[in-house]
Amino acid sequence: MRKIFDVLGIGTVSVDDSIVVENYPPADAKVRVQHCERQLGGLTAVALLAAARLGGKTAYAGVLGRDDHSRFARREMKNEKINLRHLHISTKHFPPVHSFVVVDSQNHTRNVFSHRAVPYQMPRNWPPREVIEAARVFYVDHSDVVAMIRGARIARKAGIPVVADLERISDPRFTELLELIDHLILPRKTAFQLSGETEPEKVLRKLWDATSRRFLGVTFGKEGCWFIDASEPTKIKHQPIFKVEVLDTTGCGDVFHGAYAWALSQGLPPEERIRMATGVSALQATKLGAQAGVPTLRELNRFLQLASNR
Ligand SMILES: Nc1ncnc2c1ncn2[C@@H]1O[C@H](COP(=O)(O)OP(=O)(O)OP(=O)(O)O)[C@@H](O)[C@H]1O
Ligand SMILES: [Mg+2]
Repeated sequence: MRKIFDVLGIGTVSVDDSIVVENYPPADAKVRVQHCERQLGGLTAVALLAAARLGGKTAYAGVLGRDDHSRFARREMKNEKINLRHLHISTKHFPPVHSFVVVDSQNHTRNVFSHRAVPYQMPRNWPPREVIEAARVFYVDHSDVVAMIRGARIARKAGIPVVADLERISDPRFTELLELIDHLILPRKTAFQLSGETEPEKVLRKLWDATSRRFLGVTFGKEGCWFIDASEPTKIKHQPIFKVEVLDTTGCGDVFHGAYAWALSQGLPPEERIRMATGVSALQATKLGAQAGVPTLRELNRFLQLASNR
């Protein structure tokens, strides 16, 4: 099958309204906002935009509606050069997630309030099999687990690696999806829930499954990422973060996954994929919102070069 896309995703898109305040207030406060901005957000949309900024050919083949937020998301994705030819536009009311992000500029915290007006449910048999088969890497998240399972099954059958970001484990078919992911990178919260452990080495050991996995990573925010690759399954490796002046870490995990997926599509080795993903998420944290700080490949390489000379 001819490959048209480096990374194809079908999951969550969000419209993120971020505000920056000096200090996150207690209840009943009236606060002046230092800055406010609307940006594209959502696990899959932001992962795809990171892959696209690095030069990847990306496509989104999920579902949006005809409302203002869907239009905003479509416009931003188009501007980011994410291919939307296989996007399904619903005739029903089908807005993306709407998130409100409050960034505390002094304490570097962020609180996210998310609203999904209608459950994310893709049409059956969407996207078409041949669209999935035209991708080098297939990308899933925890939304519409049934559609993710179908897509991941098609991809795996065609020998296409499946990269996943899973922040929720509530769906009854979650385990079925988990078994189809050969490149699993979890945020620590999900990893703790699944493993029942909190110490990095124990978490990874518990979650490593040599039969279904090529790669397992767990991101620990400021503490960096621990990972295992199938080529050396007895070794647990650690990639520390790159220290930067942090403004907003919203979407750090999303861009981390997107950069990893792109690097995988280019055939780069595991350590390199993780180092690039760590560099992209560090740069992303220096700006407000999930979209603004994501670097191009050139910017990333310059940053990594400087970091290794330090
Ligand atoms: N303060 C920080 N400075 C530099 N890099 C960071 C920082 N916080 C996170 N990162 C990078 O981003 C990666 C992912 O972050 P994290 O583990 O917080 O993801 P997450 O929990 O999925 O968060 P989200 O999806 O909400 O962005 C980390 O492994 C690290 O490389
Ligand atoms: Mg995340």
